[in-house]
Amino acid sequence: MSDFDLIVSGGTIATASDTFQSDIGITNGRIVALAEGLNGAKATINAAGKMVLPGGVEAHCHIEQESAAGIMTADDYRSGSISAAFGGNTTIIPFAAQHRGQSLRDVVKEYHARAAPKSVIDYAFHLIISDPTDQVLGQELPALIMEGYTSFKVYMTYELLKIDDRQMLDVLSVARKHGAMTMVHAENNDVIDWLAARLLEAGNTAPKFHAMSHARIAESEASSRAIQLARLVDTPILIVHVSTEEAATAILSARNKGLKIFGETCPQYLFLTADDLDRDGMDGAKFCCSPPPRDANDQEAIWRGLKNDTFQVFSSDHAPYRFDDTGKLNAGPNPTFKKIANGVPGIELRLPLLFSEGVGKGQITINEFIALTSTNAAKIYGLHPRKGTIAVGSDADIAIWDTKREVTVTHDMLHDNMDYTPYEGMQLTGWPEIVINGGRVIVEDGDLQVSPGSGRFLERKPGHAAAVPSGNLPLELDPNRNFGADIL
Ligand code: URP
Ligand code: ZN
Ligand code: ZN
Repeated sequence: MSDFDLIVSGGTIATASDTFQSDIGITNGRIVALAEGLNGAKATINAAGKMVLPGGVEAHCHIEQESAAGIMTADDYRSGSISAAFGGNTTIIPFAAQHRGQSLRDVVKEYHARAAPKSVIDYAFHLIISDPTDQVLGQELPALIMEGYTSFKVYMTYELLKIDDRQMLDVLSVARKHGAMTMVHAENNDVIDWLAARLLEAGNTAPKFHAMSHARIAESEASSRAIQLARLVDTPILIVHVSTEEAATAILSARNKGLKIFGETCPQYLFLTADDLDRDGMDGAKFCCSPPPRDANDQEAIWRGLKNDTFQVFSSDHAPYRFDDTGKLNAGPNPTFKKIANGVPGIELRLPLLFSEGVGKGQITINEFIALTSTNAAKIYGLHPRKGTIAVGSDADIAIWDTKREVTVTHDMLHDNMDYTPYEGMQLTGWPEIVINGGRVIVEDGDLQVSPGSGRFLERKPGHAAAVPSGNLPLELDPNRNFGADIL
């Protein structure tokens, strides 16, 4: 009789804290032994000479989601999860997006129907709250948090999604009371709209003006405001897709004061700039996302932030819209910058990009890489220690990397349903070759080894994001105290 279902032998394991030689014994989808010289398994994978890392936890991606304008992302749960798997990920947390007038409960049901038959890897859902009615705040949201949907995103911009400051305080209060995490898209809608109106009036319609209208100030003002609102309610928030030095500084300064403010950034803010939006013809539309890519100075600041704990999470913000009339050019072949679908793809390249340019070029350590791409997201979103690490008792979610493999990025090699990648032509070193999720080998020899629908929904427990003091808000609120639990 075999002791294990699977052994991964001879590799160098790295986690967010350690790097060591060990075999991994896996039974019933979980890691049950870490030791050298394991034997007695139904199957063995020889990982000698390779790095054995926790599978990526992709905590910000838009899959099979309609935008507020009604445009469906190019990736459904089949192509989106397969692309994630080939990029070394074993968990995705996409959004179940409420549009105004919709019941949150119905939205969640609908996203389950989308994901369950198609996802090849494990998944949870963040909610998007765009309509915080009394029914949503008083009943649906608290009940859903208790049922395992313990994080949600709110928008300070986008006409059809944004909530105002008062609504944000209401949502934050629910998050605090029930121990959930609020993710904030922090851009000042009025600043963007005011600038956009003036640009359009002057006939400036090209994609590059998208970047001008989403001014840095719009992001830094909204980030600072969100931090103050979270401080008032005394609950943690995570500011997503940070693009500028100023917003990064606001987050770090809040953290240095002991506030539970978390930060996320994405590949587009390290590897793209606003100049990409000025490519020939409409090509700049391929790079339109919000906030937009900035410049070399901001890129440097974002790299610094990965090192100095401004950012805990590095996500793709995969928002795939094809360069055709189903996506970017939905409003016609020559839309004004205001009518271009916002978002860039990146779910498959997130880990290889950061590994190659971050770890490979000495900007971050392998352990920091794992913290940023897997462990911290698992902790912040209530999935740790089941996800995000290699430890006895954790799910066997593992990516075996050939750290020397050289790859020139082309869109053809990717598994998403897009028709371009913003990172075309980049030369990367290091690639995830074998990916294991819940003990199942899902990617090997360049092929998908499992069927759509084999990924599992991950129910989460509330309370990871905030330790909630007794008492009712807002009367017993003390704005000078911070009750955020020690998540990280
Ligand atoms: O431009 C972006 N990031 N589109 C996706 C939606 C969002 O705000 O994350
Ligand atoms: Zn956003
Ligand atoms: Zn997003």
